[in-house]
Amino acid sequence: MIRLGVNVDHVATVRQARGETYPSPVQAAALCETGGADNITCHLREDRRHINDSDASLLKATINIPLNFEIACTSEMLAFALKLKPHSVTLVPEKREERTTEGGLNVSANFDLIAKHVETLQNAGILACLFIESESNAVKFAAKTGAKAVEFHTGKFCKQLDHATTTKDRFAALQPVKSASILAHELGLQCHFGHGLHYGNANWLQLVDFAEEANIGHSIVARAIFCGLEKAVTDMKSLLNDPKFRPYIG
Ligand code: PXP
Repeated sequence: MIRLGVNVDHVATVRQARGETYPSPVQAAALCETGGADNITCHLREDRRHINDSDASLLKATINIPLNFEIACTSEMLAFALKLKPHSVTLVPEKREERTTEGGLNVSANFDLIAKHVETLQNAGILACLFIESESNAVKFAAKTGAKAVEFHTGKFCKQLDHATTTKDRFAALQPVKSASILAHELGLQCHFGHGLHYGNANWLQLVDFAEEANIGHSIVARAIFCGLEKAVTDMKSLLNDPKFRPYIG
């Protein structure tokens, strides 16, 4: 079974668009839980553009499923995470000018800093996960840091799937993600996936060996406008675990 982590940042984005107190990401998380989410993800960005400190604390205090806390590799965020004590921390690269997290961490270039964060988090009993691209070098360096998990940035994979016109092309798009996850598994890393997954492509993740968890935000919150959050979550969870999905190249 592929676990579904629901990223509630976009609920906070709608709130911030008007500077209001609603909609609440905490209330959203409760509905995600009822809909079958296996964990809740939120990203506390340095500019607090959506989730704020109080959202993160309230999420941790109220949900009954694990909290996956996404942060940049800074001392401010590390200190916050150590106080919050979420189930897991996913370290991500962060640029102020970006609309969303645009790529994976450059683990080799920032090895000492990332490895120190991983060690500190894991010594505090928090699972450390690194958001990386589906590349063998990135996986090898991630394993060297001692992290227990990686989350593969599925942005490119999703774009290729979305633009593919044949099943053969879709299988070709899977290959880098498949190879990277096999290597990650061999090196003892849990394999998570996230970014750009939606109702038209997420089912393909089932064909990726060792896919354990998908963290999905934008498409679920967008779908919720039409059918409600609980159903949007239930439908995504079913899509990720659909025994009838058997594409055939021929
Ligand atoms: N995982 C990580 C590490 C992310 O940064 C994001 C984007 O906030 C997601 C998952 C969710 O991506 P999306 O909103 O495209 O589903």
